[in-house]
Amino acid sequence: MTPWEVKGKIDYDKLIRDFGTQYISEELINKVAKYTGAVHTLFRRKVFFSHRDFNWILDKYEKGEKFALYTGRGPSGHTHIGHLVPWLMTQHLQEKFGADLYFQMTDDEKFLHDTNLNLKTSTGFTYENALDVIACGFKPEKTFIFSDIEYAKTNYSLAIQIAKNITYSTVKSIFGFNDSINIGMIFFPAIQAAPCFLPSILKQKKIPILIPAAIDQDNYWRGIARAVAPKLGFYKPAQIHSKFLPGLGKWGKMSSSEPETAIFTVDNPEIASKKVMNAFTCGRSTVEEQRKLGGQADICPVYQYFLMLMEPDDQKLQKKYSSCKSGELLCGECKANLSEKVKKFLIEHQRKREKAKDNIYDFMLRD
Ligand code: TYM
Repeated sequence: MTPWEVKGKIDYDKLIRDFGTQYISEELINKVAKYTGAVHTLFRRKVFFSHRDFNWILDKYEKGEKFALYTGRGPSGHTHIGHLVPWLMTQHLQEKFGADLYFQMTDDEKFLHDTNLNLKTSTGFTYENALDVIACGFKPEKTFIFSDIEYAKTNYSLAIQIAKNITYSTVKSIFGFNDSINIGMIFFPAIQAAPCFLPSILKQKKIPILIPAAIDQDNYWRGIARAVAPKLGFYKPAQIHSKFLPGLGKWGKMSSSEPETAIFTVDNPEIASKKVMNAFTCGRSTVEEQRKLGGQADICPVYQYFLMLMEPDDQKLQKKYSSCKSGELLCGECKANLSEKVKKFLIEHQRKREKAKDNIYDFMLRD
């Protein structure tokens, strides 16, 4: 797994071991609930499963030191609903903790990484994707979205301080680069690490940072930002990591590079609903077998959609789970139910997305 490619089945326990992170324990969830009231479904259902220094962030908060949130998007195309997973959690944390959010659009990264993408297209998608971010419900006065290309002046001076402290061999081993990588990509990790310190520069005091993201982004924090923070006089950024919303195909995370198995926020709801009806499920080969042996909700990607995004009611989710396992619920019916939910979700999201066009510039940070 790298930030640009997640292949095959993902062993989240192994990632925790390899990356040296910690499980988000019940105890930690209860500690968060002291400030948030009801526990968010994404915590309750262990979609956000891993962290680094989240308890430290909460301790600081308890002592009156407020943290800022940092997350982002690589605007190579339209947003898919998997991207919304970390953003919905970020919105929840902004609301409950009154935190500022710095949101980086890495249009430079996508230009450098995707051979066929020109600069104008990736910067254009910055604005398209920003509409999806805003549609998640962030507060304009506390949210600062910036394009790397357009906000280069401030971010660049931080990035070069980071870059000076990281060797080529470190970047090569962390990100698995080979010698044919372009030199822009070698420098880019410093650009993504820089916003970890941006609030401290802008506010001229050390500010704790919490990064909600899926675990594919961890290389930047583990290997770069946290390594240089003490040398540059900043706090090490803390993280909470989510699992991936799967694609509609056989295994693997939802990914823009496989449009048939991804649901984009701008998809026509009818088309999206057809994609769902074509989804791969872990059902048995015949109806008889399914009735007899039951379905396999634990490993079925379709069930994950209910769990991660589409069924907030725990009792209804539990009912779906048990009727799948008992063989009462067949995959066709389950997919029809999901396709209705996806349709409704998209109609509502697209309404909010349209409305975001009225005040997008209230959210954009510029030099
Ligand atoms: P990008 O555009 O690949 O992904 C944006 C965010 O979505 C998460 N993500 C997913 N979450 C759940 N299910 C999925 N199937 C799924 N696919 C992607 C990613 O982990 C990410 O949180 N370089 C980054 C942009 C970036 C960034 C950041 C991300 C810049 N600064 C700080 C997180 C935090 C990128 O290309 O993300």
